[in-house]
Amino acid sequence: MKFKVPRGTSDVVFEKAEKKQLVEDTAITMFERFGYRPIITPTFEHTELFQRGIGENTDIVQKEMYTFKDKGGRSLTLRPEGTAPVVRAYLENGLASRSLPVKLYYCGQMFRYERPQAGRYREFWQLGVEAIGTKDAFIDAEVILLLVRIFEEMGIKDLELHLNSMGCPGCRKSFSEALRKYLADKIEHLCEDCQKRARMNPLRVFDCKVRGCQSAIKDAPLISNFWCEDCCNHFETVKGLLNDMGVSYILNPALVRGFDYYTKTTFEVRTESLGAQNALGGGGRYDGLVEEFGGQSTQAIGFAIGTERVIMAMEILNENFSAGSKIDVFVASIGEARKNGFKILDSLRKMGISADMDYAERSLKGQMKLSDKLKASHVMILGPDELKRGNCLIRDMKSGEQTEIKLTDISLWAKNCFKK
Ligand code: HAM
Repeated sequence: MKFKVPRGTSDVVFEKAEKKQLVEDTAITMFERFGYRPIITPTFEHTELFQRGIGENTDIVQKEMYTFKDKGGRSLTLRPEGTAPVVRAYLENGLASRSLPVKLYYCGQMFRYERPQAGRYREFWQLGVEAIGTKDAFIDAEVILLLVRIFEEMGIKDLELHLNSMGCPGCRKSFSEALRKYLADKIEHLCEDCQKRARMNPLRVFDCKVRGCQSAIKDAPLISNFWCEDCCNHFETVKGLLNDMGVSYILNPALVRGFDYYTKTTFEVRTESLGAQNALGGGGRYDGLVEEFGGQSTQAIGFAIGTERVIMAMEILNENFSAGSKIDVFVASIGEARKNGFKILDSLRKMGISADMDYAERSLKGQMKLSDKLKASHVMILGPDELKRGNCLIRDMKSGEQTEIKLTDISLWAKNCFKK
């Protein structure tokens, strides 16, 4: 074999592709049930959008972006996440003039140059929502509830919802100062990157996976000690609403998440069953991002789910998770009768019934085997004897029952059988 997929990417074929479709369909049904509408943005954007949006000192911007110059010399980046592009699109398309909040959802590939391992890829899919234009704590609760309800709908149990508040810029300022002071004493225990982070953006030391850095921040000050009254009240309301809805959560003051844009509520859904890459989805408020991109002061919140990780979790945690296309009718015929079969196939498909036939000139026996593999619920056999009588044979593959019907009665039979 001459060519292989690039490291960290994969082909999604057959059952995997069908499982992916099932996950996406379930999430999108839920997004729409909660009143979110689709948005599609380009897979690449101007590099500066992510530098400004995600933050210069984050791992994503520093190490993980696929950035390239196009033939016109512009610096472009394959999107590593969906929030900054959606906010750009919100401003560029004048969505602020719609009724607020604007509630949007997306489904698409993201690209991060990370070390590939199970659940971590260089090209991966996200399903996400963004609700832009309100500071109401009810929307925080709605977004979190949507995330939780999606996993319930998918039959994924054994989940932990981690919850925190990153505070407003005021709380963040005092927290960063305290953290900077704390880290100054530990500087020699930090990796080279974190020594820089400790000065430039100390919060990002929390993202570092190096063991020395993790133990250095073990007793670091926590954001929860720096919340102002407004942030406390907002967080209390969100927690209260979640309690009312029966959603349980773990308060995790160390949940800072890897983006600079977060303010106030942040959250992540994790499952132990996935090992190291245990976050199925996460998000939070980003009340300053619209303004950062040149818009009016506008509060917003959203989340994204990692599709591949959800598929992995469903394979482990939901014993009923199977996807695989089934067809309603397999039309079996040989020789001249194939032409009749081809016509019947077309009329069934026009009625909205999924139907298929043999395209490799198999014997009738071979076609029966194929119909089994295709999981056909019924096989229509156009045997020479039946055709002479103007009839065909229909076998119900579940019960094994066979009936002979007139060719002219096929639509009636199909209508009754599939009630479409
Ligand atoms: P994130 O936590 O970076 O957030 O990504 C969301 C989810 O995408 C993760 O929980 C994980 O399931 C999946 N994911 C992340 N990186 C990879 C990877 N390399 N391979 C496979 N799956 C991955 C965001 O992207 C934010 N934009 C979410 C958000 C929306 N915040 C506010 N609005």
